[in-house]
Amino acid sequence: MLLAIETSCDETGVALFSEDGKPIKDYLYSQVALHSPFGGIVPEIASRKQLEVLYPLIEQALKETGIALRELKAIAVTFGPGLIGSLLVGVTFAKTLSFALNIPLIGVNHLDAHIFSVFVEREVPFPFIGLLVSGGHTALFKVEDFEALELIGHTRDDAAGEAFDKVAKLLGLPYPGGPAVSKLAEAGDPFAYDLPRPMLEADNLDFSFSGLKTAVYYLVKNNIDSIRLEDLCASFQRAICEVLVEKTLRACKLLGIPRVVVTGGVSANKYLRKLFYESAGDVEVFFPSPRLCTDNAVMVGFLGWVKWKRGRRTLLTEEPFARAIYRRGKVIDPP
Ligand code: KG4
Ligand code: ZN
Repeated sequence: MLLAIETSCDETGVALFSEDGKPIKDYLYSQVALHSPFGGIVPEIASRKQLEVLYPLIEQALKETGIALRELKAIAVTFGPGLIGSLLVGVTFAKTLSFALNIPLIGVNHLDAHIFSVFVEREVPFPFIGLLVSGGHTALFKVEDFEALELIGHTRDDAAGEAFDKVAKLLGLPYPGGPAVSKLAEAGDPFAYDLPRPMLEADNLDFSFSGLKTAVYYLVKNNIDSIRLEDLCASFQRAICEVLVEKTLRACKLLGIPRVVVTGGVSANKYLRKLFYESAGDVEVFFPSPRLCTDNAVMVGFLGWVKWKRGRRTLLTEEPFARAIYRRGKVIDPP
């Protein structure tokens, strides 16, 4: 039995996996209601809540599955990137349990966990192009193995999810912005407003979304009486999704890889899914179910299980890390 823990941000996730890598039970505690009044995540509040919630959640998981502590054979935990206070809660808990039970500790990189979340539901042949679109990251990877990811493009400023969140805030919509914007967009015309497609013409695989946010700001400011919120949300969503789809398919073409995996919170977006399927042509596109797109412990458990079976171990002296450790073109192992 493997226990997986995810506490990189404002979600507390716990999952139990069988010896042969099947998820048995998982739990997720969301702090959205707690941070919503602030229009974003307050790191201090997030880590304190993690501390309060994690142990009861694990206790509940063991109780409901009837699994005893001594039946745990390994413990997987997110080491980063994320909010350091939140990460420390999960990592310290996992280290303590690993030490007390004398079982292996498996550190998992949160970004890798997102990319391979799709494998919980189906196998995808290697190699593939991995697009990770979350609140903290927007990056393209060439993925050849569970431990061989090569960064081929990333955002130069805001992440796609961050752009959704910032535009939502600007429009007075609740946090997190992605679901709020996409819900309004469903009733809007995606062709109503002409917004920029940043970096689309650039001869590289990088993204930039902060200019788009500024364009929305001025569009609202200059048309405050006539703007139709649904149309604006739909047009903004189209602009973001078109860039994501176009650059990802360009990567497939450049590298001759006819397979794409899209993961992270923004990959739950219905319009993005539709646009990918419509535009893909001969390229096969894979998405995880929406519940696996946003932060969860199942994705951590799956990758933790792969690493455990490969004999990977993380030392108790390793520290969690707040920032991504990828550099373009280089494969750097998580701790
Ligand atoms: O992967 P995730 O849960 O956390 C990070 O690792 O960042 O992603 C959260 C992000 C938020 O920015 C949220 O607004 C966005 O994913 N998001 C969406 C949707 N659902 C969540 N963005 C667009 N459309 C959605 N349906
Ligand atoms: Zn995430």
